[in-house]
Amino acid sequence: MHLYHKAAAILSLAFLAGSYAAWAASPVATAAVNARKANYKEIGGAFKTINDELKSGAPDMNSVRPLARDIATRSALQLKYFPKGSGPESGLKTRAKAAIWSDNAAFVKLQNDMVSASKALNAAAESGNGSALASARTTLGGLCKSCHDRFREAD
Ligand code: HEC
Repeated sequence: MHLYHKAAAILSLAFLAGSYAAWAASPVATAAVNARKANYKEIGGAFKTINDELKSGAPDMNSVRPLARDIATRSALQLKYFPKGSGPESGLKTRAKAAIWSDNAAFVKLQNDMVSASKALNAAAESGNGSALASARTTLGGLCKSCHDRFREAD
């Protein structure tokens, strides 16, 4: 009986510590995590639609153009949504790995490469050239994967 109570007390302390971490996360970290996830989600949706258009064999450039522009705009915003303290140690629900901050130069480079690649995607969409669009898509898609493999926790 006695032991059971002790275990229960320890368990509820552990629970409190867990919720304290989430409660204690700074408003800056909370806002950043929410902003980057929402932003990547939009990028993911737009990128999927562009891929589907390309798969159709005759991409509808009128639907592709605003999506490519949106990806370029959102990519450029993304770096400022990774302030120090918004990683796993924040207790927030995030898949960002601690390596983003311990190996920051590599992360920043991938993010900057994404900005260039999405500008190229946007330019290809503007030009209306399907094969330029397909090749820009492949370059950008490779960067999504490289960064996720290295800096994003698996689901
Ligand atoms: C420089 C690194 C990097 C690049 C490049 C990158 N991502 Fe991500 N992505 C991340 C990280 C880190 C997360 C996890 C964010 C979090 O949970 O806080 C993420 C999360 C996501 C998510 C999940 C968002 C959610 O709802 O939680 C999607 C979708 C996504 N990325 C799509 C893409 C696509 C599509 C591309 C390429 C066009 C891309 N990403 C390029 C690092 C990157």
